[in-house]
Amino acid sequence: MNRTNSLYIVLIFSFITALGFSLYFYNHVQEYDEKITDMKAFESPLPKYHIVLIGEEKDHDYWRLVGEGAKEAEVIYDTFVEYEGPKRSNPEEQQKLLDMAIQSNVDGIIVQALNENFKVLINEAVNKGIPVVTIDTDAPDSMRETYIGTDNYLAGQLAGEALLEDTSGEVNVGVVTGSFQNKHHQLRVEGFKDVIKKEDRVNVVAIEESNILRVESEDKAYQLLNDHKNITAFYGTSSYDGIGIVAAAKSLDRLEDLYVIGFDTLDENIELLKNEELNVVIGQQPFQMGYNSIGIILDIIKGKTVEDIYYTEVSILRKSDLTASNNKGGTDD
Ligand code: BGC
Repeated sequence: MNRTNSLYIVLIFSFITALGFSLYFYNHVQEYDEKITDMKAFESPLPKYHIVLIGEEKDHDYWRLVGEGAKEAEVIYDTFVEYEGPKRSNPEEQQKLLDMAIQSNVDGIIVQALNENFKVLINEAVNKGIPVVTIDTDAPDSMRETYIGTDNYLAGQLAGEALLEDTSGEVNVGVVTGSFQNKHHQLRVEGFKDVIKKEDRVNVVAIEESNILRVESEDKAYQLLNDHKNITAFYGTSSYDGIGIVAAAKSLDRLEDLYVIGFDTLDENIELLKNEELNVVIGQQPFQMGYNSIGIILDIIKGKTVEDIYYTEVSILRKSDLTASNNKGGTDD
């Protein structure tokens, strides 16, 4: 073989190899392109609306149910629900979260309006064109579009009526309330007092606040039992107050002679009710509040007229009312 032939052979070989590589890469690119087209076809578009829901405490058993309700509705309404709240109950932090939602120009805000300071921010949001719905605790004199949640005054009245029905003779009540400052707790106490004042035999002897913490409820109930030996009943107005009251009464060996009303159908409260350690639980509908709030705020965004208030059901539970279906920690409706 002469030099020219060898050169031809090398050139032909190089050409075939280059052609092979080109074909190989061409096929690869084609396959990749097809995959991207397929992925794009299946990729779901971003949800149309961004709604922020801000509660009192993000990881609280009660607020988790509100968040779960909203998340369940998210799927149905082409919406992204950003569920937010402070780590520990802290109204100032909650207001910061509200302010951030306003600055982010979200499509709608659902917020628990704990006190008067929320009003300014709610009005700012609405003036900016962001609809606001209050949940759990209302700010009726703000520019919020509607309120979804318990009629807190009625809840207090129901607690008072249960106590009048279930007791006889002189009753001295110690109250442990979630907060002196927050509107819904004030209403729960007011409703209760307005009902029990119908009978002279029943009186509130003292009231303390728990900051919605179970340890603080226990401390305050302990203190009340020591300072007021005549206490024969307790009324706790936030989710963990009943738990704290029972713990304090147990440690002082006083539970037997006490009549105790707690709030919210959380698993632990239902357990205490079953064991007859709580006599009554006032049931709210946190899951329903969260679920309903999404449909309603979307109606508002779409320009539909909504009512001024949507009260969710509030109920009185005694041990005799417990069945398998209403024992799910508040998710029933
Ligand atoms: C109230 C909530 C509160 C929770 C805390 C519930 O009864 O409705 O506003 O955050 O208790 O324990």
